[in-house]
Amino acid sequence: MAKKRDISAEEEILKRMRGLQSEIEKHNRLYYEQDSPTISDADYDSLFRELQTLEQLHPAYKAADSPTERVGGRRASAFAPVVHRLPMLSLANALNSDEFLEFDKRTCDRLASAETTYTAETKLDGLAVSIFYESGHLVRAATRGDGQTGEDVTHNVLTIADLPHKIATDNIPRVLEVRGEIFMSRAGFLALNEKQSANDLKTFANPRNAAAGSLRQLDASITAERPLSIYCYSVGYIEEGEMPATQWEVLARLAEFGLPVSPETKRVRGLQAAIDYFDDIQARRDKLAYEIDGVVYKVDSLAEQAELGQVSRAPRWAIARKFPPEEAETQVLAIDVQVGRTGALTPVARLAPVFVGGVTVTNATLHNADEIARKDVRKGDTVIVRRAGDVIPEVVRVVLSKRPQDAEEFVMPESVPGQEHAQILEAMKHFVSRRAMDIDGLGEKLIEQLLTAGLISDVSDIFSLEMKDLVALERMGEKSSENLLNSIEKANTTSLARFLYALGIREVGETTAQSLMEAFGSLSAIYEASTEALLAIPDVGPVVAQSVYDYFSEEANRQLVTELQRRGVNWPDYDVQAIDEGDSQKALAGTNAVITGTLASMTRDEAKQKLQGLGAKVTGSVSKKTGFVVVGADPGSKATKAESLGVRILDEDAFLNLLASPDGFIE
Ligand code: IVH
Repeated sequence: MAKKRDISAEEEILKRMRGLQSEIEKHNRLYYEQDSPTISDADYDSLFRELQTLEQLHPAYKAADSPTERVGGRRASAFAPVVHRLPMLSLANALNSDEFLEFDKRTCDRLASAETTYTAETKLDGLAVSIFYESGHLVRAATRGDGQTGEDVTHNVLTIADLPHKIATDNIPRVLEVRGEIFMSRAGFLALNEKQSANDLKTFANPRNAAAGSLRQLDASITAERPLSIYCYSVGYIEEGEMPATQWEVLARLAEFGLPVSPETKRVRGLQAAIDYFDDIQARRDKLAYEIDGVVYKVDSLAEQAELGQVSRAPRWAIARKFPPEEAETQVLAIDVQVGRTGALTPVARLAPVFVGGVTVTNATLHNADEIARKDVRKGDTVIVRRAGDVIPEVVRVVLSKRPQDAEEFVMPESVPGQEHAQILEAMKHFVSRRAMDIDGLGEKLIEQLLTAGLISDVSDIFSLEMKDLVALERMGEKSSENLLNSIEKANTTSLARFLYALGIREVGETTAQSLMEAFGSLSAIYEASTEALLAIPDVGPVVAQSVYDYFSEEANRQLVTELQRRGVNWPDYDVQAIDEGDSQKALAGTNAVITGTLASMTRDEAKQKLQGLGAKVTGSVSKKTGFVVVGADPGSKATKAESLGVRILDEDAFLNLLASPDGFIE
């Protein structure tokens, strides 16, 4: 009896192992050949690890062609195969700090030293390539493929702007294989997707897929249009020549050759320094211009690397310490509809708790009716949830293969019970918030109490609250009532920009409110503004202009504003700098300028003042109305946007020239 049970248990294990193998192979194909993975990296890793563990426990069942013995997917047929002179290995992963501690300990033990020196690098999320230089000329580039054989992508790699076609130096080995990661910056990815959708072409799910899809173009002229970048991270095969003896110096030498290497690399000695590097990079991760999925530690000494050797897939001298996954799979328990301050309804997915992006997520926004229809998210669905940095968790897509048969399509309601109350509450929370009217001490609970007690019904009532009303409320003593009345009194005097923002007009955020104030100066001028006049403001597009116009055309809104003013809310009019004779004579009069990135010679504020001094208007976002963009170091998406709109770009030198001789700059 017992024996029989064992046999069936063994059969189960074998079945699971074969199942895992075919599943992993399927995902390898989706990832490497079709550039369209259907599961997250974390889920892939867990399948892979499960198979690895089972293989260790049951070596007899391990298949000779197990995917754990190979690096990745097979070749697609369109590119000529390239057999790598030295195999292109993969990296073992450490998914948490304990696994990294174990790696460090093992390494120290094997090297019989108390501490190990590593070169610590960012783990770029792109595609590995091998590039051969012969006598300094780039002669061939190939993808990693399965680690043994890759694809010839020389023509495509030659289009990468940062990569030299020729290295002119004598100390380069006659044959030099450089390895590195091809990737696409976040800004490049956004610009590419914008262009793709403008041309009705397929957009890419993430920068990695965009980089992969761009590299695997049969027509190199298409690749040339794609914003691909590369950082080189190691040397493979060499002939007739020497390279330095440590990874750190190798990278420095590559940089001397003019090859792009990551500026984030650091040499670290010992465990603590290695951990500090990880913490630092993780904290700055979202600010980097490109996506990374972890850091890589490599034993610095190449002699020690050789001593440590490798296991089948990966070297023993390196490890990738991965960040917690930003995407994870979970289930939709319910779909609720939330009411916003403008009355807009937002569907929200209630999720089975899932650890993603370093926190446990239980809700994700589904944005609006169109978005939920497009993604077709249903109660009971298994979904991929994403949370990157501080952004609100989002449902990326549904895993259709796991949809329960009875899952019903979600119908977005026109209205929800209690909508009016919820909207008023949200509008009030926004009105009193710190960046709006900044009424300290008036939180959600208290607003609820005041609404329920009938003491307020719209925001203007806040300014008529009295001591006797407040002390009568539960949990409101005399002291807290007095404090609240004081902060209401203090908030009475505000600025036009804050007031406009506090009103909660659709599409009007802080920046737009500020622009409205600067352009019109007074509320009465905004009341009278036509949509054309509104559209003339740098940050205002048609949707915003219409929304502002509609808001102030509504009698009830005008009444509310009058009521607020009657009850004491006030602000000084803003002194609109009239374009008088003097100003219109200035070199940059009538020109909108944008500044992005870091300037070496002055702060952004100083640059802004100088431009304003020349009559330019300095705005926060790039549009067709922008005259030019000053681009400093590490610019964000504004630079890319300017490029895509064909807006004139000035680097710092050109900007300094402009300041030195502004006349005639604008024809
Ligand atoms: S070293 C034997 N360094 O990660 C060492 N790889 O999981 C192999 N990657 O195939 C590569 N950044 O595509 C190395 N700084 C870095 C890397 C890096 C990203 C990728 C590369 C590699 C994969 C291994």
